[in-house]
Amino acid sequence: MTNGNTAGNEAHLFVILGATGDLVGRKLLPSLNALIARDALGSNSVILGVGVETEFDDESFRVRCRKDLADAGIPQDQIAKTVSDKRIFYQTIAKGTPEDYKKLAARVEQVEKENGLPGNRVFYLALPPKVFPLAITGLGNAGLNKSKGWTRLVIEKPFGRDLASAQALNKVAHEHFEETQIYRIDHYLGKETVQNLLVFRFANALFEPQWNRDRIESVEITVAECLGVEHRAAYYEGAGALRDMIQNHLTQVMTLAAMEVPEAFQADPIRREKVKVLHSVLPINIQNVVMGQYAAGKIEGKDVPAYRDEPGVAKDSQTETFVAIRLEIENWRWHGVPFFLRTGKRLAQRSSQIVVNFRRPPVWIFKPFDNKEIQSNSLVIAVQPDEGFDLYFEIKAPGPGVQIQRSDLHFRYSEVFKPLPEAYETLILDVIHGDPTLFVSDSWVEASWNLYTPVLENKPTVLPYAAGSWGPAQADALLSDLGRLWTKPV
Ligand code: BG6
Repeated sequence: MTNGNTAGNEAHLFVILGATGDLVGRKLLPSLNALIARDALGSNSVILGVGVETEFDDESFRVRCRKDLADAGIPQDQIAKTVSDKRIFYQTIAKGTPEDYKKLAARVEQVEKENGLPGNRVFYLALPPKVFPLAITGLGNAGLNKSKGWTRLVIEKPFGRDLASAQALNKVAHEHFEETQIYRIDHYLGKETVQNLLVFRFANALFEPQWNRDRIESVEITVAECLGVEHRAAYYEGAGALRDMIQNHLTQVMTLAAMEVPEAFQADPIRREKVKVLHSVLPINIQNVVMGQYAAGKIEGKDVPAYRDEPGVAKDSQTETFVAIRLEIENWRWHGVPFFLRTGKRLAQRSSQIVVNFRRPPVWIFKPFDNKEIQSNSLVIAVQPDEGFDLYFEIKAPGPGVQIQRSDLHFRYSEVFKPLPEAYETLILDVIHGDPTLFVSDSWVEASWNLYTPVLENKPTVLPYAAGSWGPAQADALLSDLGRLWTKPV
């Protein structure tokens, strides 16, 4: 976890495989640019873009990078600092043959030599997942898995599409790289509010004694998006919301919220405790899974098409764009406390939040004065947007009699701090520092797929929901035995 100390970042070569892809233009380059702007990348560090396109050379790749950064709204003077002939280069991997990887290895050495680099290397796989094994093998066989400095391999999500493929990918990765060299990305772990979960829990003696089955009734984790599938149907049709969001982002947040206190604030103890949570989750009862797909509707007053009418989507597609799921963690801390995970595209509002519902007062002595339904206290952690948290409690409304009203203690990052860094900036810095805390371990990824693969093999019917709604009404039934509904976003 980056400690904010960016001094002394070691000069390195940052190699991006898949350099002409969408992720690089949208996320990676702007984040590298932000790091360069604040001199955090290491002043002599160099970026080498690698792509299958043979028509690019160093200069035409720089032209493309300038355009991507301009499209991301970055000012010209800053673009000039990032995209210079000393900083960015391009090498084609053409068809990805062993010969092509040998050429890449030769180019890596040449760029390092010309720029006086010490041999520290990041290989960032921003590639379509189906070519991960090929790329890892290509790098390994060309000897690019080691160098005279350090070598780190960053693998984008999705890591596998079920348990067997994740295990196979881990096997290939381990054939060529040590686990300590491998950084599996889940960008949710780089979000400040997600990182803050551990500090919130373990730096405040106030909350931890409440954080268990005696005091907590249920936990809700929601990641709601207004966006639809956009231009990503080719990927999304084969993925769906369970693979795209639940298996990784929401389950990561769940394991951070539910884990035991690690013995130290270090990568290994933290990652171990997270895996233990997954091992305690009971096999998922398919009755506790609701899947949906958006039909046409309105988002922010504008008509939007149904998922099946989006470009590249099959007219009879059964891909889910919404999932709600109820999990039970069978350990001493959480026995009997359901964890609800929910995500969807084209929902009513963009909002990601964690809601901790505390147990209600066992007896309502105010009944003669205010016979309202007994409320529980709740803690709502707003992951995004408008990051912060609210602690809800009951107060007496001033005046005669006893009227009880809900109020809250409120904290917002924007009222205290400068804009938060992009998750990718944090994660790139952590790779350069060699800190794997915020990355996904081999055992976590396999334990997570182990949990969800049976659901994928036995998917429930995918129900339609109107774009702009909160998903299929059936998702509410998951909470019905608790006498509550999903908490509305703040
Ligand atoms: C990505 C998913 O991992 O996360 C996308 O592939 C999703 O489908 C995105 O839109 C959400 O990320 P964020 O940071 O915008 O919440």
